[in-house]
Amino acid sequence: MLKLGVNIDHVATLRQARYAGRERGEPDPIEAALICEAAGAHGITAHLREDRRHIQDRDMQKLRDSIKTRLNFEMANTEEMILFALQLKPEIVCLVPEHRREVTTEGGLDAVGQLTILTTSRQRLNDAGIEVSLFIDPDLAQVQASSQIGAQFVELHTGAYGEQFHRKKERQDELHRLVDSSRKAHELGIGVNAGHGLNTQNLSELFRVPHLIELNIGHSIISRSVTVGLATAVHEMLHLMRNYPA
Ligand code: PXP
Repeated sequence: MLKLGVNIDHVATLRQARYAGRERGEPDPIEAALICEAAGAHGITAHLREDRRHIQDRDMQKLRDSIKTRLNFEMANTEEMILFALQLKPEIVCLVPEHRREVTTEGGLDAVGQLTILTTSRQRLNDAGIEVSLFIDPDLAQVQASSQIGAQFVELHTGAYGEQFHRKKERQDELHRLVDSSRKAHELGIGVNAGHGLNTQNLSELFRVPHLIELNIGHSIISRSVTVGLATAVHEMLHLMRNYPA
């Protein structure tokens, strides 16, 4: 069965828009994570960025203490984050590239160009009992390098597939890249996850990619929850307002 990891960064983005610098605020990403788990999600993903623009250090710790499924800690390969992960002990770390000005993680890791440094980090994390996934573009050379690094998983970047979904030829090209990369990773004994830009429209076509274990989906699920949850939130407020003595 294909597993779902829900990325809850976007819940924290909304909270930070109003409550940055405060100890608490709504919506609470931990509450959101628990709702996702209760709804059947197989794991929770959160990205602690160097600029702390959405998820905060305390969120990671609270997630670690409260969720019952797998914690997938997305992070850049920096000494600060490696030390954070070693004390947090998530089930899995997904190493991602990070650029300050990007809106979200834009491209995959350059596993080919960072073979040595990624191998060292992979080893340190594995030694602490933490599995390692590398977020890479669907590219055979990157898959091969991920194998040399010794990663247990790759997460294939589906952003380009999502972007090109409405252009027939480009969509097919992206799908081929994903299919070939997934086959290659599987041959090399690496588990294959995928994520970025997936939504209810482009999901079923992605099923042509073999060997997928888990999809990490954030923006679409959190956006959709605004739409499907808005009526309930308005009803709740109106219900409370009925208590006004007039
Ligand atoms: N996987 C990785 C490695 C990511 O960086 C992100 C975005 O934070 C996702 C999955 C989820 O992408 P989206 O929010 O587009 O569903």
